[in-house]
Amino acid sequence: MSNYSIKNLEEYFQLYRKSVREPENFWEEIAEEHFLWRKRWDRVLRWDFSKPEVAWFEGAKLNITENCLDRHLAIRGNKTAILFEPNDPKEAAQHITYTDLYKRVCRFANVLQSKGVKKGDRVCIYLPMIPELAISVLACARIGAIHSVVFAGFSSQALAARINDCDCRMVITSDGSYRGAKTLDLKGIVDQSLENCKGVSTVIVVKRTGEKVEMTKGRDHWLEPLLEEASDECIPEIMDAEDPLFILYTSGSTGKPKGMVHSSGGYMVFTAYTFKNIFRYREEDIYWCTADIGWITGHSYIVYGPLANGATTVMFEGVPTYPDHGRFWEVVAKHKVTQFYTAPTAIRALAKESLDYVDKYDLSSVKILGTVGEPINEEAWNWYNNNIGKNRSPIVDTWWQTETGGIMISPIPFVTPTTPTYATLPFIGVQPALMDENGNEIDGNQVEGRLCIKFPWPSMARTIWGDHKRYYDTYFSAFKNKYFTGDGAMRNAVGYYRITGRVDDVIIVSGHNLGTAPIEDAINEHPAVSESAIVGFPHEVKGNALYGFVILKEVGETRDRENLKKEINQQIAEHIGPIAKLDKIQFVPGLPKTRSGKIMRRILRKIASKDTSNLGDISTLLNPEVVEEIIRNAQ
Ligand code: PRX
Repeated sequence: MSNYSIKNLEEYFQLYRKSVREPENFWEEIAEEHFLWRKRWDRVLRWDFSKPEVAWFEGAKLNITENCLDRHLAIRGNKTAILFEPNDPKEAAQHITYTDLYKRVCRFANVLQSKGVKKGDRVCIYLPMIPELAISVLACARIGAIHSVVFAGFSSQALAARINDCDCRMVITSDGSYRGAKTLDLKGIVDQSLENCKGVSTVIVVKRTGEKVEMTKGRDHWLEPLLEEASDECIPEIMDAEDPLFILYTSGSTGKPKGMVHSSGGYMVFTAYTFKNIFRYREEDIYWCTADIGWITGHSYIVYGPLANGATTVMFEGVPTYPDHGRFWEVVAKHKVTQFYTAPTAIRALAKESLDYVDKYDLSSVKILGTVGEPINEEAWNWYNNNIGKNRSPIVDTWWQTETGGIMISPIPFVTPTTPTYATLPFIGVQPALMDENGNEIDGNQVEGRLCIKFPWPSMARTIWGDHKRYYDTYFSAFKNKYFTGDGAMRNAVGYYRITGRVDDVIIVSGHNLGTAPIEDAINEHPAVSESAIVGFPHEVKGNALYGFVILKEVGETRDRENLKKEINQQIAEHIGPIAKLDKIQFVPGLPKTRSGKIMRRILRKIASKDTSNLGDISTLLNPEVVEEIIRNAQ
């Protein structure tokens, strides 16, 4: 039996039991057989969640790009590694073979070195979904630099905060980006953010749109001429398994984003192993994940997981609605995609459109469908299953997080029977626990609680960049010796997990993880605003949308309300990005607060969801009278 490819439910249970009883033996066998190490580990696992400290494959040496590139050259050098599908369907797709990719990564790595980037340095990547994004990520990994990719929809202020937090010396960007019919000026955004990032000495600019941009002498360099001078061989930096591979920021319950730090060895083993099994990857497959590499899904399941398996991974620059609502299906048919992995919000948006957009295309190549990022409702699941999967392609509803690095709970296709809205069973090596509010683990089935993980897995984040205490406080302080996910979940009669949503101050909007605090901070900076509170409310397409309750200062009282609303959303777009804009804004005289001054978001959530029949006991509030008034004027 090969532990690397799970064939049936019995084998899954057998492996799962082994991974729980003898985790070290289990992961050691996987690591030994399927990867290229320059030196073997001294110890498989060392951990202590009370600190928290976790180390996998300590003492081992490797370079992840040797696993993603070099070792494939002899056997699949001419196979397509990255299949790039541009925003404009009239522009030709690019098939980048493993040999091409290897050379382009080496060239880029040499450029980074020529600009003084060394092992351990942080490099910020702010690029659209073009091949250079994947190439620059791999180029950093080649020389041991830590990449910090910032999604190219974030504003200049959000970008600056992320550049400064981990002290990046270099930013890689492009002249612009295409998003459907729009062109965005990425270089202009970088220029603006660098006014507040004095540590950045070099900017590398990829040419994509050909728009005119300002180049600051001595700091900014076009990529192309530098590549022309660079060699296409680059000796990989040999890393410790525990050396950081990358930082990726995620929202938190305070204004400051959390730079999650991922390791080299454990991350590689887990993302490759989950990719192989959860997408049942076979050599001839064409796999497409529609995420952006600016998010963890793109890191793990567009770049590292697929390439470590020698797969063909599609990179799509565009949006699902351009030039029309059939674009996803057109691309699936054109490239004969076998695995298709997307977000529920995209499915809901496309399900609202005519089925003609789907039926025009031959989707018979599809074998497996996946979803990620937020709970999928039954209606969307059924639409996906009936119209895209034609009732024969299993749907893997994969639950995981930026912090977990890889998929944690998911069906294994053709192995785990699926049930709509259930992420089903924990992946091999993942030990979930449901906890009650008193901190006790809830045993048995047909139960609901807070979702924790009680044993380390190889790809878990090791810390928050520069703030290990925050790492402990956020994830390990709520439940003793357990990693707390921030999600609620239920376990049904057969032990399947269903994620019910966040139980903290994070709101998932269109699959994007948004913290309430940074949005409130942005609003409160508006000169007319004195205080605000954001909550989520159900939205047909986005899953959740944002509702802002805003108290105005006297200066705001006489101003035109509609203009103020526009300015508030503009303020949010500048601080964070358009993804965090509010759908509804209500000006209120006060916010319901406890006697200790804490905003009662539970009440605001109910009002925003138009569910005010059972608000609970509000008499203990500091200001119960404002609740009545807020309800009266609610939208
Ligand atoms: O609430 C869960 C939700 O997304 C959160 C993690 O967001 P992020 O770190 O941005 O990573 C998203 C991509 C891995 C989780 O805490 N979430 C993710 N996948 C699912 C989900 N909720 C329900 N079902 C899922 N399949």
